[in-house]
Amino acid sequence: MNKATRKAIIAGNWKMNKTRPEAKALLEEIKPLVANAQDAVEVIACVPFTNLETALAVTEGSNVKIGAENVHFEKSGAFTGEISADMLTELGVEYVVIGHSERRQYFGETDETVNKRTLAALQAGLKPIVCVGETLTEREQGITEEVVAKQTKIALMGTCEKCIKNVVIAYEPVWAIGTGKVATPEQAQDVCGFIRKTIAGLFNQEIADGITIQYGGSMNAANCAELLAKPDIDGGLIGGASLKAADFNTIVQAAVNG
Ligand code: PGA
Repeated sequence: MNKATRKAIIAGNWKMNKTRPEAKALLEEIKPLVANAQDAVEVIACVPFTNLETALAVTEGSNVKIGAENVHFEKSGAFTGEISADMLTELGVEYVVIGHSERRQYFGETDETVNKRTLAALQAGLKPIVCVGETLTEREQGITEEVVAKQTKIALMGTCEKCIKNVVIAYEPVWAIGTGKVATPEQAQDVCGFIRKTIAGLFNQEIADGITIQYGGSMNAANCAELLAKPDIDGGLIGGASLKAADFNTIVQAAVNG
């Protein structure tokens, strides 16, 4: 199995942006632009919790799928401010971002909680987009592979072979997120290829060859084509550029052609 047989996924990560009317307007703009991607590329918008219901209504019947940006690992109970996987699936949400570096950095997310969230999401029928990636210091220390291997292995602990097909991995070097400092296509390819090798070690080659691995971190309309042309980069997790319909569409079209 090679890149051509894997599902290409372009996902927007809106972060803490857009009120409901703004979300509606942006999705209305995106929908017709990306309609041609239907068979070639999975197009997703991961939006704030408050926008989920609006986003699902606006995209109904289109090829734009909706994701959440986080999920709690417990089923229910006294966890003020949290949202469970069942709450998301009941709404009709299909994807969820887990372990984004901003969650790790600002909200105490650890490899262990990323693992718990991943398992809870899978159990509820959500498709987790699991984020991994090294900091600049870790890259400079030459431990990128160790860091990414550890994050990947712990995140996927206890995942059954059947469930792993629903997991997407996003390689997001922390130093490239929101900084305008994009990884070179070679750097991104090296780590995405390494993640695939790590997954082959955890499961088997067939599973590793089938899993979608995205790159994320300052991917934009200008640099996406080169990144998406790499053999182990199957898509992108897009922050800033996903908030502009034309730029997001350029990335989707690059994936359609890549
Ligand atoms: P960015 O964010 O594209 O704005 O760098 C990517 C992400 O955080 O997923």
